[in-house]
Amino acid sequence: MELIDKLNWRYAAKAMNRQVIPQTKMDNIIEAISLAPTSSGLQPFEVYVITNQEVKDSIQSIAFNQSVVSDCSHLLVFAAWDTYTEERINKMFDLVNEVRGFKNEGWENYRQSLLRSYPPRDPEVNFNHTSKQAYIAFSQAITAAAFEEVYATPLVGFDNNVLYIILNLL
Ligand SMILES: Cc1cc2nc3c(=O)[nH]c(=O)nc-3n(C[C@H](O)[C@H](O)[C@H](O)COP(=O)(O)O)c2cc1C
Repeated sequence: MELIDKLNWRYAAKAMNRQVIPQTKMDNIIEAISLAPTSSGLQPFEVYVITNQEVKDSIQSIAFNQSVVSDCSHLLVFAAWDTYTEERINKMFDLVNEVRGFKNEGWENYRQSLLRSYPPRDPEVNFNHTSKQAYIAFSQAITAAAFEEVYATPLVGFDNNVLYIILNLL
């Protein structure tokens, strides 16, 4: 199937049957997330891949009891950074240097300009920015899932404040 055929096949699956998704397919979906474009390449979010049944069940209880949360094979939680910090920006710039295997003066100057401008900003402005980047990555994940012919559904119907506690994100 071509990509468009697979996107025609895709739909938001409202029920799952607990069939375990092969790891190779999950690896491809997760790699697609890491290849998503993000502003300045900062990838300002974490993706939690949850397979533990007890954790899925406790998340279902704060997600309007939507059965897909418990019955899915892998529950992916996209958690945008609450703000930009020096440490987070440096970590991503350092990672780029490590993967490229060299440092570039223009890139290092760009790092400094982001360090000057992002961390002092209102955290709400930063979160607005990071959450948009998380949505870009989510979109790439759902497309990759379709490409792998893995049933998936987006889901924002859950209580953020309790999810933070369940996943220890505070
Ligand atoms: C950001 C986002 C959040 C969504 N949240 C939920 C949800 O909480 N529960 C649900 O059943 N579907 C949810 N959906 C799925 C939509 O209802 C579904 O994608 C839409 O009806 C279009 O259908 P399709 O994906 O099958 O083309 C969500 C979709 C998006 C994009």
